[in-house]
Amino acid sequence: MPQSACTRSLKIVICLGLSLLSLSFLPSAAMADGSGDPKSVSRDENGKYVDAQGNPTFHVSDDGTWDWYAYSGYRRYHSDCHVCHGPNGDGSSYAPALKDSLQELSYGDFVSTVAGGRVNVTTSQNNVMPSFGNNPNVMCYLDDIFVYLRARSDGALGPVRPEKKEDKPKGYSKAEDSCMGAK
Ligand code: HEC
Repeated sequence: MPQSACTRSLKIVICLGLSLLSLSFLPSAAMADGSGDPKSVSRDENGKYVDAQGNPTFHVSDDGTWDWYAYSGYRRYHSDCHVCHGPNGDGSSYAPALKDSLQELSYGDFVSTVAGGRVNVTTSQNNVMPSFGNNPNVMCYLDDIFVYLRARSDGALGPVRPEKKEDKPKGYSKAEDSCMGAK
């Protein structure tokens, strides 16, 4: 090999090595899902945990206690969604794993998809996401279901049943009654 070509290829190797090294020193991206950083910063008047953007989020204590919304969402999910989306948001051959979907979908996307439904016309099999807009058993508990799935998406909750949960917050029943009564 002529010497010039040798030094050139040596340079490339060194250069590549250095840039790979600098890449590994970059700060790792902040944990975020389709709605942004899921960290809870406060609670609203109904006792729901919210993130810095004001979106509903989960709160799992160090001892494994689930917040009420995540617990309620677990139950609602398993009564109205799991037949298609699989247990624990893990997906099925018919419908996508919502724990993965929430990595991309924002809270607003989630709400509009569940309320309006969706028909996939691009595949040969006709997979239908029904519209739940007129179903108070789902619409009055959308935030609960979202909170549960967000916790699944973030890995804060495993594919498990809730063992310990927070008490039902004071404002929760009032909001629930007025939503169910207003159907
Ligand atoms: C009858 C079966 C069925 C039921 C019940 C059902 N879904 Fe779906 N859902 C689907 C299918 C199929 C899709 C994918 C549609 C498509 O490919 O466009 C979907 C898509 C979605 C999406 C969009 C996912 C993405 O990656 O874009 C969300 C969010 C969703 N469903 C939430 C729910 C929730 C919450 C419930 C329970 C209240 C529920 N679904 C109940 C079949 C169902």
